[in-house]
Amino acid sequence: MTAIPSAGALTITELAVPRGDRPVLHQVSLEIPAGEITTLLGPNGAGKSTLVLTVGGALKPTGGSIRIGDLELAGSKPDKVRGAGVAVVPEGRRLLPSLSVRDNLKVATYNMPASEADAGLAYALELFPELEKRIDTSARSLSGGEQQMVVLAQALASKPRFMLVDELSLGLAPVVVKRLIPVLEQVAATGTGVLLIEQFAHVALALATRAYVLEGGRVQYSGTAAELRENPELLHSAYLLGA
Ligand SMILES: Nc1ncnc2c1ncn2[C@@H]1O[C@H](COP(=O)(O)OP(=O)(O)O)[C@@H](O)[C@H]1O
Ligand SMILES: [Mg+2]
Repeated sequence: MTAIPSAGALTITELAVPRGDRPVLHQVSLEIPAGEITTLLGPNGAGKSTLVLTVGGALKPTGGSIRIGDLELAGSKPDKVRGAGVAVVPEGRRLLPSLSVRDNLKVATYNMPASEADAGLAYALELFPELEKRIDTSARSLSGGEQQMVVLAQALASKPRFMLVDELSLGLAPVVVKRLIPVLEQVAATGTGVLLIEQFAHVALALATRAYVLEGGRVQYSGTAAELRENPELLHSAYLLGA
């Protein structure tokens, strides 16, 4: 693999986030290095989606930082986060059902200069060539797997430095998940730092270099994915052990 100039990391430090008036994330620290897949595991309600929404600018933290180098993103608006090269795929993102695949992808690049938008569309279609023949199909006519491809393609069309994917395989058949995985690997190999949230811990741990386990809004494990693969008892929640 060719060496990629380091784009550093997206570093989250002691992040505190409430929902309503209840604290949900407590002092969460986590690093998403460039060029790697990092996984964030944890049972339902742990706060994984809250973390993703906060990085994306949809929720405001009450403490802590989210940084890329010297750039502070905590509390920034979604546009600023996107502008910093961070693409967020929230859990259960939907497409615009009556629009074609092409137009759904165009929506994702509307604020980019035309040449970059074209290049972004080409990059997305290079990663998901099967979307080419569906390009004029309305999103509502796509299979669940194709829809998830378009959702990922929307995020990738901006050639993000960091991409956060919340629940990659939710509702998808295993064969579809198998198809999506090499794309994440390819994306990481180009230097993008990927944070993968995935209900099937074994799928995520097979891909990731580093892993975090979040429970009750606190990081309960941080280390290598290999260590968690070899010591599954470290995934102490019954939910994860069953996955
Ligand atoms: N819209 C919301 N309003 C208030 N509380 C919420 C909302 N969404 C989630 N929560 C609460 O925040 C906590 C973390 O949820 P979430 O981040 O969705 O966890 P996960 O993605 O790990 O399943 C849970 O206790 C959940 O009930
Ligand atoms: Mg969630």
